[in-house]
Amino acid sequence: MQGIRTERTVITLVSAGDAGDLRTYYLRNVDHLGPWEPLRSEDYHSAAAWKDRARDFAGEALRGVAYRYVARLEDGGEIIAVANFTNVVRGVFLACHLGYSIDREMQGRNIMFEVLDALIPHVFQTYGLHRVMANYLPENARSAQLLQRLGFEVEGRARDYLKINGKWRDHVLTARIDDPDGGVRREDG
Ligand SMILES: CC(C)(COP(=O)(O)OP(=O)(O)OC[C@H]1O[C@@H](n2cnc3c(N)ncnc32)[C@H](O)[C@@H]1OP(=O)(O)O)[C@@H](O)C(=O)NCCC(=O)NCCS
Repeated sequence: MQGIRTERTVITLVSAGDAGDLRTYYLRNVDHLGPWEPLRSEDYHSAAAWKDRARDFAGEALRGVAYRYVARLEDGGEIIAVANFTNVVRGVFLACHLGYSIDREMQGRNIMFEVLDALIPHVFQTYGLHRVMANYLPENARSAQLLQRLGFEVEGRARDYLKINGKWRDHVLTARIDDPDGGVRREDG
């Protein structure tokens, strides 16, 4: 399997063949992800829905409107994390939104950081983007910490920004710019 390899993971763009693994990942993490995601319809996780969705995701990457990635610990292993670069706008903006999650069991090991630390420069270089925007619920301390370590800067707070888990919720807005002199804030300074 081709892909981006980090110390502990192999990361690939979603293809139609990932439908089953994506379904398994999201079903395994329904409770873990629920507080941070929109309410889902009853048939959202049916095998047919995931088959269509994975095919659509692959098509979006071909059209250059969204790039969705999955990470595994080894080729052919189960999906342990996802990172979605969506809402790609070109022209003078060259920007997109970033959303991500990691399997509940894999939290607290720096793996999400490892995946995004590899993917963000890849997305800047491969697709010629300039700005990645990531927004989080004020109480999502893990997400806040992760974004800060990845070099995202807080740009403001938006009221009633997204309907999460059934409620319009304020979000903290952050962005990372493709800045050759800036970038990741590492622990060693
Ligand atoms: C947000 C989310 C991806 C963060 O995952 P995470 O595992 O905390 O993120 P990281 O990969 O940065 O790992 C940091 C953790 O690894 C630990 N760690 C281990 N080795 C480390 C190292 N060398 N350097 C830094 N941290 C290290 C840290 O201590 C920290 O764990 P702790 O908070 O328990 O102390 C995860 O909580 C998640 O999937 N949440 C649900 C979905 C979600 O909220 N998505 C984002 C919506 S905005």
